Amino acid sequence: MSEILQVKNLKLYYSTKKGVVKAVDNISFALNKGETLAVVGESGCGKSSMAIALMRLLPRNVNTYQGSIIVDNEDISKLDEKTLRERILWRKISMVFQGAMNSLNPVLKIGFQIAEALLEHDKRLSKKEALAIAKKSLELVRLPEFIADRYPHELSGGMKQRVVIAMALVLNPQIVILDEPTSALDVITQANIINLLKRLKNEKGLSYIFITHDLAVASELADRVVVMYGGKIVEYGNAEQIYATPKHPYTQKLIASIPTLRSDKTLEFIPGAPPDLIDPPPGCRFHPRCPYAMDICRVEEPPLLTASNGKVACWLYKGDIVE
Ligand SMILES: Nc1ncnc2c1ncn2[C@@H]1O[C@H](COP(=O)(O)OP(=O)(O)OP(=O)(O)O)[C@@H](O)[C@H]1O
Ligand SMILES: [Mg+2]
Repeated sequence: MSEILQVKNLKLYYSTKKGVVKAVDNISFALNKGETLAVVGESGCGKSSMAIALMRLLPRNVNTYQGSIIVDNEDISKLDEKTLRERILWRKISMVFQGAMNSLNPVLKIGFQIAEALLEHDKRLSKKEALAIAKKSLELVRLPEFIADRYPHELSGGMKQRVVIAMALVLNPQIVILDEPTSALDVITQANIINLLKRLKNEKGLSYIFITHDLAVASELADRVVVMYGGKIVEYGNAEQIYATPKHPYTQKLIASIPTLRSDKTLEFIPGAPPDLIDPPPGCRFHPRCPYAMDICRVEEPPLLTASNGKVACWLYKGDIVE
């Protein structure tokens, strides 16, 4: 399978009054054409930071931004801002931001908002053309055309989520980053959005990076899974294998905490809290919460090793060092 995106040694640190926040700390992975790669982990582990780093849509307080982001054999981290905006963003790689459905402009009609986004990305279009494309994009996400004349407050949560998905797809990108696209929705609406995403992926041959803290939702879509903890990748591999036989103690805990219907099993939770990314624990960042922590875990960071089927960064395993 061919790789449509390769991320190598990506770092994104923020400057704050308290110190430098190492939100994304040297992560590498690849996205195959046509696959869904789920990125999972607890709140604050750096998932959204990783996403904005891929899009190069960075906040002002960036301290360090490094690594390479190769899309279709081109390193977009080296492109100048103008080329990036003209050729790459929204056209090759686009994103539905976390909470985007709640950031729609309350005083503008839906059709106008999609058209405006379009005009910003494609200066050659006339207003009329942009509005016509906006209406067509509503059809793509199975919303009736009259929605174009409605205001955000007239729409349900599921409809608003469809609108922001339409906005991300309007310039026909190949790669779409979805940051918690179903988190604010009830379970039935969640299922509808997941089905919509599956259909769009098949129809348009899209590749997804699907970010969620919810492993049950991730299991619906994911071909492969990246597990993040404290700004790092701790496990990475085929979804079925990760769900059936998780290797990293953190992944094991996450999976044991997924609720199942009418089960007698006591749900596990992970004691303690994710690390402070200004001053993370030395060695393995998970060691203070890990039931298997050994001496080495407290002093030396485990490398990301190739395990039998995937990669894992944990001193419990031995294998060939990858990076
Ligand atoms: N602009 C910023 N300036 C300083 N710190 C930031 C900034 N944005 C995020 N952070 C910090 O970076 C860390 C990672 O945050 P991020 O939002 O990437 O996590 P996340 O995994 O997406 O969490 P969630 O599941 O809650 O969305 C957190 O400690 C957060 O407080
Ligand atoms: Mg986030």
